[in-house]
Amino acid sequence: MRIQGIKIKGFRNLKVVDLTFEEGVPIHAFVGSNGQGKTNILEAIYLCSLSKSFRTRTNSDLVGFEEEFSSVKVDTDNEKLEVIVTARPAQKVLKVNGLKKSAPEFIGNMRAVFFSPDDLASMSFAPKLRRRYLDIVLSQLNRGYLDKLMDYNDACRQRNSLLKAIAEGRADTDELEFWDEKLAQLGSFIAQEREDLINHLQELVRRHYREISKSDAEVTIVYESEVRGVKPKELGDLYRNGRRRDLAVCQTRLGPHRDDLKFLLGGKDMAFFASRGEWRSLVLALKFAEIDLIRERTGDDPILLLDDVFSELDAERQKYLFNATGKSQTFLTTTHREFIDALPAAHTVYRVDGGLIVSS
Ligand SMILES: Nc1ncnc2c1ncn2[C@@H]1O[C@H](COP(=O)(O)OP(=O)(O)O)[C@@H](O)[C@H]1O
Ligand SMILES: [Mg+2]
Repeated sequence: MRIQGIKIKGFRNLKVVDLTFEEGVPIHAFVGSNGQGKTNILEAIYLCSLSKSFRTRTNSDLVGFEEEFSSVKVDTDNEKLEVIVTARPAQKVLKVNGLKKSAPEFIGNMRAVFFSPDDLASMSFAPKLRRRYLDIVLSQLNRGYLDKLMDYNDACRQRNSLLKAIAEGRADTDELEFWDEKLAQLGSFIAQEREDLINHLQELVRRHYREISKSDAEVTIVYESEVRGVKPKELGDLYRNGRRRDLAVCQTRLGPHRDDLKFLLGGKDMAFFASRGEWRSLVLALKFAEIDLIRERTGDDPILLLDDVFSELDAERQKYLFNATGKSQTFLTTTHREFIDALPAAHTVYRVDGGLIVSS
């Protein structure tokens, strides 16, 4: 997979960015001081891969303050991808080769892996980020997964509103049957997919962790889920049996939306004793495993987006990062030019200043 060019208009502080990327140059580096729009460029590319941003759920945040809409176009070897976001009303339109698509149809056309210092710092304490890691990998590999995950989240919201209506005497408990059944079907599918993925990732993550940390410490990923291995029929019963508990708080307290991952290092729970350096190695290992899995399943190299990672990584880890990126086309940001000079492969440098590319 290769991006031939991008065109960005009115996206956050980016006024107009129009770049064509030379074939045979694998690394594209965006350099500039803080707040100039470097991360915004990666965010725009990411949007064309995953249909969502990595830093906001509010679409209108993506539209420039003075603009009515923003548009990002990415031309790959295979397709022309486009995301248009309007501020008022806040709407997002996804297009592949000029035709409107749903999110599950859109994702998977261009697979990208994103590295950020935030992930490096917060995977250790945010269960939501750990779930998101699984969901992003699965969504890029299997369209049906995202479809079902979106249906599941929607059904969860509907069931929660219904719980509230029942608690206020506006609806009848029998009406829960439909949602309990739906959540059972979708929930058990999601849990099974997550479990299969973790089984596949296990060896890959172990190997990368050993190499990154230069130790023989063994990482184990544990899928912590109340619904793991539960068949749809049993899960339906669990939802039914949990109705009283759920009605008390007007919330669905069971299901894959409460899943988590636990990581063991040498058999001990990392949450309680791992150092920052060990977490950092683990997050890198998870990312490299994601790249391997995409390569293995699709036969294609994902696009890599590296946001300001140099400052977080020592020289050894930086070297490992560039070895593991292999043939992937890579877009990176940095505030320090000296990192660029040390890059191992052919690269182009773009200077970002005030939302514009001022030179390359
Ligand atoms: N919707 C928006 N409209 C205009 N500017 C925005 C919007 N959202 C964020 N910005 C601006 O974008 C800049 C941050 O860009 P970013 O890409 O994160 O910078 P960096 O170069 O440090 O990575 C900030 O100055 C911020 O105010
Ligand atoms: Mg940044």
